[in-house]
Amino acid sequence: MSDTQVVVVTGASGGIGRAVARAFGARRARVALLARGERGLAAAAADVERGGGTALAIPTDVADFGAVDAAAERAEKELGPIDVWVNVAFTSVFAPFEDIGPDEFRRVTEVSYLGYVHGTMAALNRMKPRDRGTVVQVGSALAYRGIPLQSAYCGAKHAIQGFNESLRCELLHEGSHVRTTMVQMPAVNTPQFSWVLSRLPDHAQPVPPIYQPEVAARAVLYATDHPRRREYWVGGSTAGTLIANAVAPGILDRYLAKTGFKAQQTGSPKPADQPANLWAPADRDTDFGAHGEFDAKSTPRSLQLWASRHHGLLAAGGSALAATALAVWRRARS
Ligand SMILES: NC(=O)c1ccc[n+]([C@@H]2O[C@H](COP(=O)([O-])OP(=O)(O)OC[C@H]3O[C@@H](n4cnc5c(N)ncnc54)[C@H](OP(=O)(O)O)[C@@H]3O)[C@@H](O)[C@H]2O)c1
Repeated sequence: MSDTQVVVVTGASGGIGRAVARAFGARRARVALLARGERGLAAAAADVERGGGTALAIPTDVADFGAVDAAAERAEKELGPIDVWVNVAFTSVFAPFEDIGPDEFRRVTEVSYLGYVHGTMAALNRMKPRDRGTVVQVGSALAYRGIPLQSAYCGAKHAIQGFNESLRCELLHEGSHVRTTMVQMPAVNTPQFSWVLSRLPDHAQPVPPIYQPEVAARAVLYATDHPRRREYWVGGSTAGTLIANAVAPGILDRYLAKTGFKAQQTGSPKPADQPANLWAPADRDTDFGAHGEFDAKSTPRSLQLWASRHHGLLAAGGSALAATALAVWRRARS
C-alpha cells in the first residue's frame, strides 16, 4: 500500500474512528480527521503524526453537507486526491422510543444516517471523475437487527445499509472502479457509552462480548484494502446475530424484549454529570480517546475476523480435509 494514501475519517476524534485514524497513521498515510470536538481532534492528529502519518484536523459537523463538502475540498487541496473515505461519525439517544423527542430523533438521523450520505456524496463527487477510490461505511450488527432503547440509532444503521446497497448496484451497473463496502461491527469498548445522551437510570454499556477498538480498526483497514467484498462481519457475536435474525427474527424479538434492557446497562447508576454529545461535542475540552471504560471486559482479538479475512484459505483447507476424509473412507471400504 502506498505511503501517500490520502484518507478521510469522519468521527476521528474518539472511539473506532480514532483507532482507524491511528492505524492509517501507522501506515504513514495522509489523514484528514473530521469531527467537532477540538481537543479530541488535536489528540487524534497527534496520534497520526506520532505513527508517522500526516494529519489534517478539520472541525466538521457531518449533519451539514456544505461543511462536509468544504472539508473534502480542503483535504484534497492540502493532502491530495482522496483515495479512501471512511464514514464513522455517529450519535444516538439511549432511551425507550417514547422518551425520545422528534427533534432528537431528527438530529440522530441527520448525524448518524445523513452524515454517512453526506460523506459518501462528497467522496463520490471527487472519486467518480477519476474512476478510483474506496468508501468504507462503518456499520453494525444493528444494521439488520433492531434492539430496544436504540430506535433512532437502529433506524439510521438500517438506512445506511439500504442506501449503501443501492449505491453499490449503481456503481456495478456503471462498471465503475470506485468501490463501496460496509463493515458490520460487534459491541466495541468506545467512549459512546459515557457521552451519548442517555435517559437510562443506569450507566450504559456495550452488550458483551466486547471488542477493543483496534479490532474494529483492523477490519476497516482490511476492508479498505479489499473493497470488492460487499460487506464484512466482525466478531462471532455479529455473525451469530445476523444469522439468527435471518432465520428466526420473531424469537429474537422476544429474547431481546426479555434481556435487552438489562444487558445494555451496567447496574450502577449513571453519573449525574455525564455529558451528552447530541447537539454539541463532549470532547471540546477533554480528550476521551479511542477506548471506553470497559478495558477489563474487552478482548483485543477476534477469531471470526481472522476467519473472515482468510476465508479462501479456510475453504481450501476445508476442501483438502474433506477430500482426505473421503479418500480414507474409500480405502477403508475397499
Ligand atoms: N461502539 C460500539 O459498540 C459500536 C458497535 C457497532 C457499531 N459501531 C459503529 O461505530 C461507529 C463509531 O462508534 P463509536 O462507538 O466509536 O462512537 P463514539 O465513541 O461515540 O465516537 C463517535 C465519533 O463521532 C463524532 N461525532 C459525533 N457527532 C458528530 C457530528 N455531528 N459531526 C461530526 N462528528 C461527530 C464524535 O466526535 P465529536 O463529538 O467530537 O464530533 C466521535 O469522534 C458508529 O458508526 C457506530 O455505529 C459502534
